[in-house]
Amino acid sequence: MACLQICTYPDPILRRKAEPVTTIDRDIHRLIDEMAETMYSAPGIGLAANQVGKAQRVLVVDLQRPEYDRGLLVLVNPKIVAASGETTYEEGCLSVPEFFSNVKRYEQVTVQAMDKDGNPVEVSASGLLAVVLQHEIDHLEGRLFIDHLGTITRELFKRKWKKRLKEDKA
Ligand code: NI
Repeated sequence: MACLQICTYPDPILRRKAEPVTTIDRDIHRLIDEMAETMYSAPGIGLAANQVGKAQRVLVVDLQRPEYDRGLLVLVNPKIVAASGETTYEEGCLSVPEFFSNVKRYEQVTVQAMDKDGNPVEVSASGLLAVVLQHEIDHLEGRLFIDHLGTITRELFKRKWKKRLKEDKA
């Protein structure tokens, strides 16, 4: 099993709306396995398929915290069916390395999806898991956490990123 390369901003794949998965086959299973491995080795707590160059509605999440022992969560074609409350969390993203900012999200969400075998699943989440699910589902819509920033923080981000891209080229 190989680690996949993580696409970083402004790669256009991150702006693409991912396609629903119609058949759970070996290719999807391989994608899921490789996404999980890529997330663990990054390390990160969530990864959407766009981030590894596949515009398909697949995401993996593992908060990797002892107080949260759910392990690896695989969601295919996830959809938020209920949301309530409000919370702010300092977010980051493997596709936007070394930039962190507070983002306002729903405090609780309920997500319907399929698991890796195509069985329907429903996940009700609050706190960090709710934040991560919203962040990853955003990816599948071609949205990034930086899209949620206010004007000033967004300008700060743009300046920082321009500098970073210049440094990368040098
Ligand atoms: Ni992300």
